[in-house]
Amino acid sequence: MIQILPAEPHKTKIVQKLPLTTYHQRLKYLDSIQFNTFNLNSDRVTFDLTSNCTSAMSQEQLSSIFLGDEAYAGSRNFIHLESAMRRVLGHTQIIPTHNLLGAKKLIAKVLGKKNGTVLTNSTLIDTIFQDNGMDCVNIKIPTPLSEVTPSNFSGSIDIKKLKKEIINDMTKSIAFILIETCPASSHSQPFSLKNLKETCSIARKHKIITILDISFIVENAAFIIQFEPSHRKKSIAELVREMVNEVDITVMNAGEDCRSNAGGFITSRLEDIADELKNQVVVYEGLHTYGGMTGRTMEIVAKGLEDMVSDRSICWRITQIEYLFGKLRENRVPCIKGGNGIFLILSDFLPQLGHTEFPLFVLSSALYLTGAVRTVVDDMYEYLLNSEKSKTLGCEIPRDSFTNQHLDHIANAIIKLYENRRSIQTLQLHAKGKWTDEFTFELKDKNMPLFPIINELDEHNYEPWKITTIEHIGFTEREYRQKAAEEAGYNTFLLKSEVIGIDALTDSGTSAMSFEQWSLMLKAHETTYSSKDYEEFVETVKEIFGYKFVIPTHQGRAAEYICSQSLIKDADRIPGNMYFTTTKLHQELAGGQFIDVIVDEAHDPESSFEWKGNVDLNKMEDLVKKVGAHHVPYISFETCVNMAGGQPASMDNMRQVHDFCKRHTILVLFDATRCAENAYFIKKKDPRYKNKTIKEILKQMMSYGDGCTVSSKKDCLVNMCGFFAINDLRIFNKAQDLLRIYEGSRTTGGLSCQDLSAHTQGAKEMLDYHYIRSRVEQTQYLGNRLIEEGIPIVRPPGGHAVFLNARMFLDHLDQDEYPAQVLAIETFIEAGIRTMERGNVSKGRNPITGKNYRPALELVRITLPRRVYTNSHMEVIVQAVKKVYQRRQSIKGLKFVYEPEELRFFQGRFEYLKRGGAK
Ligand SMILES: Cc1ncc(COP(=O)(O)O)c(C=O)c1O
Repeated sequence: MIQILPAEPHKTKIVQKLPLTTYHQRLKYLDSIQFNTFNLNSDRVTFDLTSNCTSAMSQEQLSSIFLGDEAYAGSRNFIHLESAMRRVLGHTQIIPTHNLLGAKKLIAKVLGKKNGTVLTNSTLIDTIFQDNGMDCVNIKIPTPLSEVTPSNFSGSIDIKKLKKEIINDMTKSIAFILIETCPASSHSQPFSLKNLKETCSIARKHKIITILDISFIVENAAFIIQFEPSHRKKSIAELVREMVNEVDITVMNAGEDCRSNAGGFITSRLEDIADELKNQVVVYEGLHTYGGMTGRTMEIVAKGLEDMVSDRSICWRITQIEYLFGKLRENRVPCIKGGNGIFLILSDFLPQLGHTEFPLFVLSSALYLTGAVRTVVDDMYEYLLNSEKSKTLGCEIPRDSFTNQHLDHIANAIIKLYENRRSIQTLQLHAKGKWTDEFTFELKDKNMPLFPIINELDEHNYEPWKITTIEHIGFTEREYRQKAAEEAGYNTFLLKSEVIGIDALTDSGTSAMSFEQWSLMLKAHETTYSSKDYEEFVETVKEIFGYKFVIPTHQGRAAEYICSQSLIKDADRIPGNMYFTTTKLHQELAGGQFIDVIVDEAHDPESSFEWKGNVDLNKMEDLVKKVGAHHVPYISFETCVNMAGGQPASMDNMRQVHDFCKRHTILVLFDATRCAENAYFIKKKDPRYKNKTIKEILKQMMSYGDGCTVSSKKDCLVNMCGFFAINDLRIFNKAQDLLRIYEGSRTTGGLSCQDLSAHTQGAKEMLDYHYIRSRVEQTQYLGNRLIEEGIPIVRPPGGHAVFLNARMFLDHLDQDEYPAQVLAIETFIEAGIRTMERGNVSKGRNPITGKNYRPALELVRITLPRRVYTNSHMEVIVQAVKKVYQRRQSIKGLKFVYEPEELRFFQGRFEYLKRGGAK
């Protein structure tokens, strides 16, 4: 069944930075390429709206890059491709080609006839068949633009015309019938299965070969399921096989539904034709077992074929097309929805321009200028002009690479342009070419821009990256989740990730890395001794954080261990702005005692104080008075305090703490794990820093410290790494000794050089304003939506997570019935969303009294991995929490059935209490 999905059925695995440009830059670029957007370099285009070879791959596809068996003959990858094709499509023969043109070229050579005819539902003459002496006759049913919509199946063959062509074909010149799935030449409209069957049956009767271009077969199949009632219950996989089974031959552009960035193939159920095609493949393409594709491309295509028939993935594509279409129609923009995106109707959009006044070029240039969007203008101009394609401007949507926030921006650009369409200037032809990419233009009125500036569109209010690789996520039924929760002892840490839909357990090591990070990783030289990767790691950390000495550690707690062991003596007190579990534990293991010196507001989930991460200097003063400064080796000053709800500290507070500590010769050591998020809050909330860069703010923050420990698995955007940085040589030497004993070599800290390299790039990326803004604003969005729905959360929402106030949420439970623990597991059971308890269970027991600490904050942390989920996923979280809230009174508390002594929240197991709340 095709359904509209609330969010992507996948998470992001790898991202690629989007080039961001301003109106004035685009004005210049347009001028330099003479108003033909084909010729814009991709680093000047934010949204490339062409679906060909631009879709996000699955991580399984991407990993195929390393599985290429680049044998000249009979490679494993070809065998994989062949068997995937047989499983998914059902034909027996496959002929690999370098792309769709390669496939069509072979078809032309083998099945072409001199002065022959190709009957087709394409309205655009196929240049390759024309060049091989054939004539393309369009036999698609004619449909006025106003009636073009997928449910009308206007991509269908006109059966009457087909019969007429066959009857009139006295000289038997019909070479074959070519049927395109969602033909690009006519706004990507589908044909019906009934029509395909009828066409093929007529063709069979007259012994005419049928060829199906299956580049958009999945979209076409989805429309058949949606709009042809007798097929409503079929799966995409079934329908794809059924369609292929009708025809003799298929051709495929692997850059579309297969999501490859190159490649193609022909399949056939007729062995004799396949043999002839194989003989030609060696002439024009390559060998019959690679056909001009690398081994790795064949592997990517094989995986893509298997992936493409997943119902969920096409549902998301249809959802995104509907989403963009809905926005445009709401604003009365004249457009058509097709299998491959949205098509703007030129005659309604630019009525002032006639068909031959280049409305396609004008609108595509104006859209680039307005929204940095590139749309599709291609083909041989003469043919294009006579096809249906010339009546619309295609805004194709690459599969899974843009989020709905991106689509919002694209929609806004189109809407603004439409509202102000009268002010779009006319272009004057400068040079004509045979092909559209050769055309050049100039402005008719050189003193006026093509389209006036629209300021707010340049705010880049969207994720500044596109998704290049996705990871499919699990979908489970409630009963299954209930059982999984029971098996995990009602502890979300013990759930297997395969049962999780949205994993909001932690932002630690869960970030989507960028292509830039991956490419540096691939360049790393592995060694446990000294390396360039280590040196670059150190230099980057020094440059960003400003401390003299840097020690890599495998993650944050290792840095905390060596820091605590280097600095703490028995009976020392370590003040901190709230505890973090591992930080506190390492202080205690080194003989120290943690003292909470955070401002009182931090313990009040209802307080809307802006700087809840601040240190209370009176508390510091009291501590020093009580134990003496010589018993306080350092203050552990956390940026964007995790346990307080990701709350930031102000720059003034950092400076005051620094001044206080200097007076008492106490070191200031930041836990700078979430330092970029803190810097963003300072920029946003403190007007004095409005015009400073994130890098400048962070440098100033760190200048108030003597060193830091960092879990780089958070802000630094890596999956594994941490470090300890310090200005004092003596402490550095001691810490380095400990590193050698407990962690790994001085130059790796037990990490691979790949991890160090990914860190070098990740630490730079965290400073990008557009990135950090979109990161923190996503958390704000989630928090504000929950507040809107009346859910009790810690206010204001922090940087990395939104914290549900479990004490208020489940106010019928006593804190020793672990309300946060139960709320976390109930949210999982409700919708497969994994969160984390941060309350009584996490805080542990007082070793002297044996009683639970019962901390003031009893919270469930919904933690957002960086660059992984979209705002659509945020909405899914909101709806799930809302449902749990509605049934909150029926929720019972938990008791421990297994309770480890240390960090009990990781491994502890629970069971539900029999009775209702103790209160
Ligand atoms: C503030 C803070 N400090 C330290 C750590 C420990 O880091 P790691 O998990 O990398 O050992 C964490 C982990 O969540 C953290 O949030």
